[in-house]
Amino acid sequence: MAHEPSSVQDVAAGLRQVGYLPGESTALVSFLAAKLGKPVLVEGPAGVGKTELAKALAKYLGRKLVRLQCYEGLDEAKALYEWNYRKQLLRIQTEADSAGWQDVQDDIFGEDFLLERPLMTAIASPEPVVLLIDEIDKTDQEFEAMLLELLSDFQISIPELGRIEARTQPVVLLTSNNTRELTEALKRRCLYLWLDYPELEHELEIVRLHTPELSEQITRKLVEVIHQVRELDLKKPPSIAESIDWARALLLLGAQDIDGDTFRATMSVIVKHRTDIDTVAARVGVKLDPAAADARPAA
Ligand SMILES: Nc1ncnc2c1ncn2[C@@H]1O[C@H](COP(=O)(O)OP(=O)(O)OP(=O)(O)O)[C@@H](O)[C@H]1O
Ligand SMILES: [Mg+2]
Repeated sequence: MAHEPSSVQDVAAGLRQVGYLPGESTALVSFLAAKLGKPVLVEGPAGVGKTELAKALAKYLGRKLVRLQCYEGLDEAKALYEWNYRKQLLRIQTEADSAGWQDVQDDIFGEDFLLERPLMTAIASPEPVVLLIDEIDKTDQEFEAMLLELLSDFQISIPELGRIEARTQPVVLLTSNNTRELTEALKRRCLYLWLDYPELEHELEIVRLHTPELSEQITRKLVEVIHQVRELDLKKPPSIAESIDWARALLLLGAQDIDGDTFRATMSVIVKHRTDIDTVAARVGVKLDPAAADARPAA
C-alpha cells in the first residue's frame, strides 16, 4: 500500500519496520527526498547500506523499485530504451507487399516496438516508483550528462515518437563508491547523503537485527572487534555486510566466544586481502588469545 511520510520520525520508524535501521541524517534526507521530489546522491564506502536504503525506502513507501545497475560502457540503449529490431524486421517482412511504406514506418516506430529500459520504465510508470541508479560512478561523464537532463525535466524525447513525460514523480536514489569524482552539475541537482561505517551501538543494533539468535555477549564482542579492525590501516576495512556475514558464520559454527582461535579460523569472512589478513592477525588476533588476556593487569 502506498504510504505518504508525514515527518522525519515517521520515515525513521517506517524504515525500521521494514528492517533498515537508519541514522539520523538518513531519515532526514529520505524524508526531504520524498517531499521535495529531489534525487539523492548516496555516497560512502562499500557495504554500508547504500543499495539497501533504496530497497527499504521502496518497501516502506509501498512503491515498486526500479533498478538501473551501472557499469562501464552503459549507454542509452541499455538505460533508456531501444527499438526492438527483430520485431520491426518481422513486421516489415510480413507486410512488405500489401502495405505502403509510410504505413509500415508509422507502425514500426510505435510504442509496441519499443523495449523499455529502467529509466524509461520509471518515467512512464503510472504508479510512482523508487528509482535506484546504482553505482553511477562506474559510468562515464556522457552518461551522466544524459541523466542530468532526465533528472531535471523528468522527460525523455524519442525522435520518432515525441516526448514522454513523467506521469508520476519517482523518488530517485543514486549511489556511488567514489571511484571517480561526479560532476558539480549532478551534485547541484541532488540532495547529498554520506553513509559511513556506523557508530558501535548503531552497528550492534543492525547485527542484532540480522542475527537475533546470536548471544548478546558474542554480538557485542564481534562489533567491538570489527571496530578495532577498522582502525588499522587496511586495504579494505570490513563493512556492515562483513559484520553480518561474520555473525552468521559464528552462529552456524556454534561459537561460544570469540577467542584467538575462533578469530583466526573465521577472519577470512571479514578481511579479504592477503596483506590485511597478516596485519589483522598480528594486531587484533593475538589480543584475543587467553595468554594475552592473562598478561593484562587485572581490571
Ligand atoms: N542501516 C542498516 N540497517 C539494516 N541493515 C543494513 C543497514 N546498513 C547496511 N545493512 C546491511 O548491510 C549489507 C550491505 O548493504 P548494501 O548492499 O546496501 O551496501 P552498499 O553500500 O550498497 O555496498 P556496495 O557499495 O558494495 O554496493 C546488507 O545486507 C544490508 O542489509
Ligand atoms: Mg550497493
